[in-house]
Amino acid sequence: MNENNLQIEQQETTDNTFVKVEPLVMLPYYDQDGITIYNADCRIAMRALRPSWIITDPPYGINYNAERQNLNSGQKYKDIENDDGNLNLEFIFSAEGNKVVFGANCFPNLLPHRGRWICWDKRTNEQADKALGSPFELAWTSLTSGYDRIYRVMHGGFVNDDGGKRFHPTQKPVRLFYRILEDFTKQDDLILDPFMGSGTTCEVAKKLGRNFIGIDISKRYCNLAEDRLNILI
Ligand SMILES: C[S@@+](CC[C@H](N)C(=O)[O-])C[C@H]1O[C@@H](n2cnc3c(N)ncnc32)[C@H](O)[C@@H]1O
Repeated sequence: MNENNLQIEQQETTDNTFVKVEPLVMLPYYDQDGITIYNADCRIAMRALRPSWIITDPPYGINYNAERQNLNSGQKYKDIENDDGNLNLEFIFSAEGNKVVFGANCFPNLLPHRGRWICWDKRTNEQADKALGSPFELAWTSLTSGYDRIYRVMHGGFVNDDGGKRFHPTQKPVRLFYRILEDFTKQDDLILDPFMGSGTTCEVAKKLGRNFIGIDISKRYCNLAEDRLNILI
C-alpha cells in the first residue's frame, strides 16, 4: 500500500454501542516529491494526519459572492463550498500542530485564549479599498511567544503583486504565503492546508522545498492546484 494512502478508523453506532468497521482508505489525488493532495472532506481526512503546521484559509461563513466581487476579469466562479456559515471549524483548533488560520476574527468564540496575529496589509487607495471591502485581513497563529506581524502585500482585482493568474475567487497572493511559510516553518516540517483552494500554499511549499499535504473538497480546485505545480516543474 502507498504510504500516503490515508487509513481512517471508523465506528458505527447501533443501539448505543460502538461497532468498529473496516478503516476507510483514501487515495491521494496527487503525490509527488513531498507534495500530496487529497480531494476529500478535510473533516474526515484530517483524522489520519499529524502535521507540524496547519496553515489555512477556510471558508469564513460569509457566503462570498464571487460574481459581485470579480470586477476585473468578468469571469464567473462557482460559490465556495461550505461558505454558508454552517461549517463548525472547531476541529481545526483541536487538531495537532501549530496553526495559522486566516479569517479567524470571524469566529472568535473558537479561539484559544492566547495566540499571535498576522495582519495582511493589502491597502491600495481609498477608492479601491472601499470596493474590496477591507484594506486588511487577519490570521490567527497558535504561537504564544514572539510578536504580532504585519505583512504588506498588495493584491486583489486592482493590484496583484504576484503578476500571476487568478484561479480562485478568494485566492491569496503567493508572496504573502511565501513570507508566512518562510518565517514560521522549518525545512523538515510537514505543512497541512485542509482548505487548499487553488493551491497557493501548495505552490509556496514546493518553491521552499517543504513537505506539504493539501485537501480540498472540490475536484476542480485540486485540479487547478495540480496545474500550478506542473507550471513550476
Ligand atoms: C477560502 S478558499 C481557499 C483559497 C486558497 N487560500 C487559495 O489561495 O486558493 C476555501 C476552500 O475550502 C474548500 N472547502 C470547503 N469545505 C471543505 C471541506 N469540508 N473539506 C475540504 N475543503 C473544503 C473550498 O472548496 C474552497 O476551495
